[in-house]
Amino acid sequence: MNLSTPRQSWLVESQLPVAYEIVETHGLLSPDNPELLTVPGGEGGGGTRLVVVDDAVDVLYGERVRAYFDHHRADVEYLVLPGGEGNKTIERVLEVVDKLNEVGTSRLSTPPLVIGGGVVADVVGLAASLYRRGIPFVRVPTTLLSQVDVSVAAKTGVNYGGYRNRLGSYSPPPRTLIDRTFLATVPARELRGGMGEIFKMALIKDRRLFELLEEYGAELVHTRFQDPEPDGAGVPGAVADEVIGRAIAGMAEELEPNLWEKDLQRSVDYGHSFSPLVEMRALPELLHGEAVAMDCVFSAIIAERRGLLVTADLERLVSVARRIGLPPSHPLFTDAGLVLEALADTVRHRDGRQNLPMLTAIGEVCFLNDVSEPEIGQACLRMGELLETHTTDAAGPAPVVAGSGR
Ligand SMILES: NC(=O)c1ccc[n+]([C@@H]2O[C@H](COP(=O)([O-])OP(=O)(O)OC[C@H]3O[C@@H](n4cnc5c(N)ncnc54)[C@H](O)[C@@H]3O)[C@@H](O)[C@H]2O)c1
Ligand SMILES: [Zn+2]
Repeated sequence: MNLSTPRQSWLVESQLPVAYEIVETHGLLSPDNPELLTVPGGEGGGGTRLVVVDDAVDVLYGERVRAYFDHHRADVEYLVLPGGEGNKTIERVLEVVDKLNEVGTSRLSTPPLVIGGGVVADVVGLAASLYRRGIPFVRVPTTLLSQVDVSVAAKTGVNYGGYRNRLGSYSPPPRTLIDRTFLATVPARELRGGMGEIFKMALIKDRRLFELLEEYGAELVHTRFQDPEPDGAGVPGAVADEVIGRAIAGMAEELEPNLWEKDLQRSVDYGHSFSPLVEMRALPELLHGEAVAMDCVFSAIIAERRGLLVTADLERLVSVARRIGLPPSHPLFTDAGLVLEALADTVRHRDGRQNLPMLTAIGEVCFLNDVSEPEIGQACLRMGELLETHTTDAAGPAPVVAGSGR
C-alpha cells in the first residue's frame, strides 16, 4: 500500500498595481523648481541620493545640476556615465550598483535620479530594478527620443551577447520629469531621430499631431523646441509643449492597457516591423528614428497599394517626413530579400503572426496578417523611386550592436 500523500499543489496569485507619472515641467534646474527634490511616495528618510548624469549632459549642465542641489543643501553624490549605444552594457549596470552600495542607498527613501539620454536611463533603470530586488528611481530624459518614447516606457535594459536589449526588466520609475530646455543642445540629427517616433505616433492615432508636424515640424527641429526669440521669431512655446505632450499622451494611452505586452498586436509597433533588421544592417549609417520613419513610409505604400490608404495621404506623409529631415527611403528598403528576412524575424517576435499595423487614414490603423511576398516586392520597387541623395550633418559613428531588440 502506498502511504505517501497524493500530489499536492499550491497556487499563489497576486496582482501588482502599477502607477507612474510623467511630468512636463519648465526650468527644472532652476532652484525654485522643487520637482527634482520630490521623492516619489513620501518625504524620504534622509540619507544620500545618487544622481547619475549622462556625460554629455554633465559637460553642458553639470554646473547647474550641482548648483541646484548645493542650493537646497541636498545630500547627493554623483556618478557620470557615458551615453551612446555602446555603453548600454551590464558592466555599466554593475558600476551603478557599486555606487549605490557606496552611497548607502536604502530600499525606498533615497531613490537614485538619472539625468540623460535613453541609454543611461535604461542602464540606471536596470540597476534599480535589480538592486535589493528593486528600488524606485526617478528619470529625467534629456534627448527628444528619450523625452517622447523612453519617458513613457516601463522597460529597462542593456545589450548583451551581440543582441540589443537582451537583458532587461519591466520596472517603470514612479516619476519621470520632462523639460524641453535640455533639447537646446541635442545634435540636430539626433533630434530628427526623435522626430521619427513623434511622426509614427501622429500617423497611428493623432491627426492633429500630424498637422502640427506638417506646419511646424521643420521649424521645431531648427529651433530645437526652444521658446521663440524676444523678437517673436520661432515656434510658440505652446506648440512645442503640445507636440511633445501629444506624443507622450498618445504613447501612454497605447501602453497602459498592454504594459506587459501580452497582446502582440500593438499599433505602437508601426514603423518597427521592417526597420529593426534594416537599421542593424545599415549600421552605423542610420539612426533608429530614421529607420522607423522609412518603415512608416514602406508600410504606408503597402496600405496604399491595397486601397486601404488614399494616394494623397501617402504623398502627404512622405512630404512631411522630408520636411522634418527624415529621408523616406534607403537602398536597403529596395532589397526585397532583406525586407522579407526582416518580416520573418518580426513574425517570430510577434509569436508567429505578422500583426502588421497598417494605416487606413492618417491617424488610424488596422492590422494585417496576410501581407504577401509580391506585395513586399512591389513596395520595395516604390521605395526605389523615393530614393534621394541626402546629406546628414555629423552625428558621430553609431554603435555596432547586432540583433533586433525592441
Ligand atoms: N526603455 C524603453 O522602452 C526604450 C524606449 C525607446 C528607446 N530606448 C532606448 O533609448 C536609447 C536611445 O536613447 P537616446 O537616443 O537618448 O540615446 P543616448 O542616450 O545615447 O543619447 C544620445 C547622445 O546624446 C547625448 N545627450 C543626451 N542628452 C543630451 C543633451 N541634452 N544635449 C546634448 N547631448 C545630449 C548622450 O550623451 C549621447 O551621446 C536606445 O538604447 C534605446 O534602446 C528605450
Ligand atoms: Zn522606436
